[in-house]
Amino acid sequence: MSRSGKQTAKNIKLLTIGDSAVGKTCLISQFARDSFNPNFITTIGIDYKIKEVDIDGSKYKLLIWDTAGQERFRTITTSYFRGCQGILLVYDITVKKTFDNVSNWMDQIIQVNDGQHVCKILIGNKCDMVAERKVTEAEGKKLAEEYKIPFMETSAKDNINVQEAFLHITKDVVSGLPSENGGGSGSDRGGNKADLSKGSKKDKKKGCC
Ligand code: GTP
Repeated sequence: MSRSGKQTAKNIKLLTIGDSAVGKTCLISQFARDSFNPNFITTIGIDYKIKEVDIDGSKYKLLIWDTAGQERFRTITTSYFRGCQGILLVYDITVKKTFDNVSNWMDQIIQVNDGQHVCKILIGNKCDMVAERKVTEAEGKKLAEEYKIPFMETSAKDNINVQEAFLHITKDVVSGLPSENGGGSGSDRGGNKADLSKGSKKDKKKGCC
């Protein structure tokens, strides 16, 4: 609460990662600006957008970092992994390689965060492109289950599940924030609760969930 009695929003840092052209920028634009750009303008390094949301009557200011998927920006982009509270890991359901690369992105998260726990959600984007689909919804779901993280298929173009995905990860982060009385709220939203990031025993649970 501010001195004027107005509720001040708490800041939450989110990050989108995934291969180039999977639709990270479009997802953020759809969520934060209600807009979709059909032209591909690759992100140079890093960008961000801000959006305020209301979760259970409390205001949160989301700072959403949009990382470049291209390999040449990897040193810059991975430096933003540290300190973020929620990660949307995105692949393109029409490009199998982007799905196969999810494990590499997971490894990088673990490596950069030195095993510290961070909330994550797996996103299969471009679900409007039914005819070009190369990764089934069941495959996406199975992989997310292996990592014990939530999963959603989205379309930034047709605005399918976009709000839901960002709100889901935000709620997961919020449920792990210290409450006004101290300590996390302890709510169990599943998925991120026992995140043991496949293949790693280093995941020290901290912060959310
Ligand atoms: P980098 O900045 O290089 O990492 O790429 P990105 O992941 O941010 O991809 P971007 O959002 O720029 O989208 C790449 C292309 O995919 C653009 O031409 C978008 O219009 C298109 N696109 C993004 N999301 C969707 C979607 O949900 N459906 C369809 N059909 N096209 C999409």
